[in-house]
Amino acid sequence: MPAMPTQLCVCGAQYDAEVASEVKAHEQRHDAWTSGLAVPALPSDLVVSRLEETEVLMVTAGASPEQRQRAAAAAQRALQDTPFHTPAYTVEDPDPDVRIFLARQSGRCIGLAVLRPRARWGWWSWDDYDDELRPSTAVAPLTTWAVDLIWTLPRAQQRGLAQGLLEVAASIVDQPIPSFGWRRPFTPSGEAFVRRLCPEGFWIPA
Ligand SMILES: CC(C)(COP(=O)(O)OP(=O)(O)OC[C@H]1O[C@@H](n2cnc3c(N)ncnc32)[C@H](O)[C@@H]1OP(=O)(O)O)[C@@H](O)C(=O)NCCC(=O)NCCS
Ligand SMILES: [Zn+2]
Repeated sequence: MPAMPTQLCVCGAQYDAEVASEVKAHEQRHDAWTSGLAVPALPSDLVVSRLEETEVLMVTAGASPEQRQRAAAAAQRALQDTPFHTPAYTVEDPDPDVRIFLARQSGRCIGLAVLRPRARWGWWSWDDYDDELRPSTAVAPLTTWAVDLIWTLPRAQQRGLAQGLLEVAASIVDQPIPSFGWRRPFTPSGEAFVRRLCPEGFWIPA
């Protein structure tokens, strides 16, 4: 029996290159993967800010099913660019306080930030982190807004988009970025980014 002409693409699609309908479906999926998922304007859009050509949409636990669905799809896309196993947000997410920020440019989602209130477990200075010393944990039990995930589309990176998205989030949750908590483990790009935004060190959520 001849081998199946199945292709496995970097976008995660597996398809039969000899079946026109599968090739077409793959083209659409691949385009969304490289250029961003389509996030057309909806009456329920909550546009909270604009960064030049980019709109920032906020999605909360009380948002419409379509809004939560697109936030979950964006989290699924972002997951493909990390070594993590679970998306930062799904439509079944039970957290009533989760805040999702989506960056939209030309009708495509090019960035995502997922924030939640969390207890502060410890503070890790970069000096201690670099010396492989443990974080200091003798802190009062305070809550903080914590970044569960920050992601930008590869072709939109290194242009200030992730920082801009978090600046919008920081103004809405009314907490400065250097006092945010950060979910670990960091990816290499995530660590470089947090070092730039939080030059002293970072809070670790419980
Ligand atoms: C981390 C990530 C969100 C950064 O997004 P971005 O849009 O490129 O970030 P910005 O352009 O806003 O960068 C802000 C600052 O961080 C620095 N920075 C961002 N990514 C960096 C990298 N990979 N290496 C070194 N510095 C980086 C920028 O140079 C900039 O500093 P500057 O003001 O001195 O120029 C992006 O690389 C990404 O989506 N990575 C894949 C997903 C991921 O790993 N998320 C983090 C999980 S812990
Ligand atoms: Zn592909």
